[in-house]
Amino acid sequence: MSSPEYLRYHGLLLPPEAHSMESLEYAQNFSVEDTDVFAVTYPKSGTIWMQEILPLVLNGGDLTPIQTIPNWDRVPWLEEKRLAFVVDQLASPRAMVTHFPHHLMPPSFHTSKAKVIYVMRNPMDVMVSSYYFHQMAGFLEDPGTFDEFMEKFLEGRVLFGKWTDHVKSWRHKELGDRIIYITYEEMVQDLPAALRRISDFLGRNLSEETIQKIAEHCSFKTMKANNMSNFSLVPKVYMDADKSPFFRKGVAGDWRNHFTSEQLAQFMSVISKELEGENFSLPYLD
Ligand code: A3P
Repeated sequence: MSSPEYLRYHGLLLPPEAHSMESLEYAQNFSVEDTDVFAVTYPKSGTIWMQEILPLVLNGGDLTPIQTIPNWDRVPWLEEKRLAFVVDQLASPRAMVTHFPHHLMPPSFHTSKAKVIYVMRNPMDVMVSSYYFHQMAGFLEDPGTFDEFMEKFLEGRVLFGKWTDHVKSWRHKELGDRIIYITYEEMVQDLPAALRRISDFLGRNLSEETIQKIAEHCSFKTMKANNMSNFSLVPKVYMDADKSPFFRKGVAGDWRNHFTSEQLAQFMSVISKELEGENFSLPYLD
């Protein structure tokens, strides 16, 4: 594939394979229901993981959706083209994912009671994961060297803009108890505990046995083998697992294998400055 031209939308860069001006307009006019559940992520923070978790938690551990429907149709992206095709087939309560910052959510979201699970991941690990993803995804531009990619990442010249803008936008007071914040790292460390938090938040009273069953089906190993979630259905020209698998490592702290101490100092100086005054800390820094 030749080098892709990204769409520009309110200052964000988006790949045209999955997005179009029509899909973005569709998202803006989307009628959010009070029972809707959104998993919100900056790219490479655990989106596909949530596409596995949400149907299982919402349906008491029923495996049918994760074994029969591809992840992008099962829990579609609000901003992507597929939503318009599958919206009528979504079971209630509807589960969706989005990479939108808070201010780009449709008006109907802001007036609704729809719930949000915001998944945050250590930004260095996000960058590492994204670096490999850019190598395997034919619809994304070549990342260049790690140094070059880091510069782009820090300046927000990457998909969905700056990481700091995204995480800050979703700390919006207006959301009150409609939102919970969860980290990728806490999911890696203790998935059953994270599932209990998610299930309580969604008003599901799941037995310990069901929690354990869901955790097993949402493990890195099981998901990597699930053809409905591992992108093996996507032609190689779009996603080439020989270059780097989508399910790459699935760990916290891989940044330690990639950042020099100079890169780390530069990265942290930019990120800390941009997060000044925010009352949350970054997972897995030491
Ligand atoms: P790595 O590249 O670090 O392995 P997204 O879905 O937002 O694009 O995020 C992709 C990242 O989430 C990848 O990280 C992928 O391996 C990781 N991931 C997906 N499912 C996971 C799981 N069940 N356990 C741990 N990590 C998972």
